[in-house]
Amino acid sequence: MSALNNKKILLGVTGGIAAYKSAILARRLIDEGATVRVVMTQGAQAFIQPLTFQALTGNPVHTDLLDPAAEAAMGHIELARWPDAILIAPASANTLARLTHGLADDLLSTLCLATDVPVHVAPAMNRLMWLNAATQANCQTLAARGVRLFGPGNGLQACGETGSGRMLEPEEIRDHLMAAMQESVAAPQSESLSSSMPASEMANSANGSGEFLGGKHILITAGPTREAIDPVRYISNHSSGKMGFALAEAARLAGARVTLVAGPVNLQADPAIKRIDVVSANDMLEAVMNEVGSADVFISVAAVSDYRLEQVMDQKIKKSAEQMTLSLVRNPDILHSVSALPKRPFVVGFAAETEQVEAHARGKMARKSLDMIAANHVGQPGNPVFGSDTNALDVFWPADDGHAHVPAADKQAVARSLLNLVSRRLQAHQNAQ
Ligand code: C5P
Repeated sequence: MSALNNKKILLGVTGGIAAYKSAILARRLIDEGATVRVVMTQGAQAFIQPLTFQALTGNPVHTDLLDPAAEAAMGHIELARWPDAILIAPASANTLARLTHGLADDLLSTLCLATDVPVHVAPAMNRLMWLNAATQANCQTLAARGVRLFGPGNGLQACGETGSGRMLEPEEIRDHLMAAMQESVAAPQSESLSSSMPASEMANSANGSGEFLGGKHILITAGPTREAIDPVRYISNHSSGKMGFALAEAARLAGARVTLVAGPVNLQADPAIKRIDVVSANDMLEAVMNEVGSADVFISVAAVSDYRLEQVMDQKIKKSAEQMTLSLVRNPDILHSVSALPKRPFVVGFAAETEQVEAHARGKMARKSLDMIAANHVGQPGNPVFGSDTNALDVFWPADDGHAHVPAADKQAVARSLLNLVSRRLQAHQNAQ
């Protein structure tokens, strides 16, 4: 059954050209069995008429805070208590700033203050507005308070520019919302005032700051490895390192001390992350083994070459022969070497699968003695993974046949979701010991 079946969703629509897509979003939520009530800001009404939403949802649209007729029908406090979740899509830079500062000068911002249900936002704005330090700081504050950010995505914007800030497609937002509803069923929220904070963050956040990995050391491998053939040639793969770097950044933002062992990639990491650059699988193994002693979590994202040359040539190989054969030997499995340690951290592996994702991922998790595995379904239309800025994951863990789907989103958002799951499982793991 759909996670949205019989759920009451309050859909906030704010002023942005993406508001027209919210009509499709309302439809998609209703398709899943949700009851939808729409609240529009004044800005939203410049882009789309309330009547559109009224016709789609079958419910009156709420627009005013101080309208006696509307208050008599369903007062704003009653409306704040009505939903199971609030979803704001599109969420403009202005609305994100107003939520951050706790303003209550229109209906939507007042409802967000007066509710204790989860609030989710799908930001949509020009790329420079999105990248502006003020917006980024506001989003971090909101995320730390437990507001979930769905996107934004990358691509061509209405203003003609290309970049980050595009609202996710209605179907992607629906999938994120369904995943969030499923998680909140799996992990009941606390009764406290900050109950919209994801349970994992509440459990791990000593001071309520959202630094849910505070005090933890997270060791991550990322990117490809290169195996030399001769001084000028090598064997490698297409891994860009983006997923591993996104995880390192998300772990840093969640308060962790982060060590990132990176194969040859063209990416920058925040200076607060300890970055160790390596080339071959053997170099990566050595760096990981030097660092793993103090790690609480090891996340192996690197696409490690499975084989290396039996013998690397000292001199460049000349093209004299018509045919040549390279003799390869197996590389060490870094992930398995870590999980085999007597004093091991919480170990998370990645798996790229083209079919039977769950069976193959669970098999790999058992063979490599992992605590969790994140599977990419590669070769799917829309999920090229290598080099892409977006990803979707199915995450599995052994206890209770655990499974969570992380829907397609930019790799930063996917990294945050994965770390939330890691943090929750780590907590359960430590409680069990
Ligand atoms: O066995 P397979 O290569 O599919 O497993 C993928 C997982 O194992 C990834 O987490 C990858 O980082 C890790 N791995 C490793 N060392 C290898 C091969 C894979 O750590 N030599």
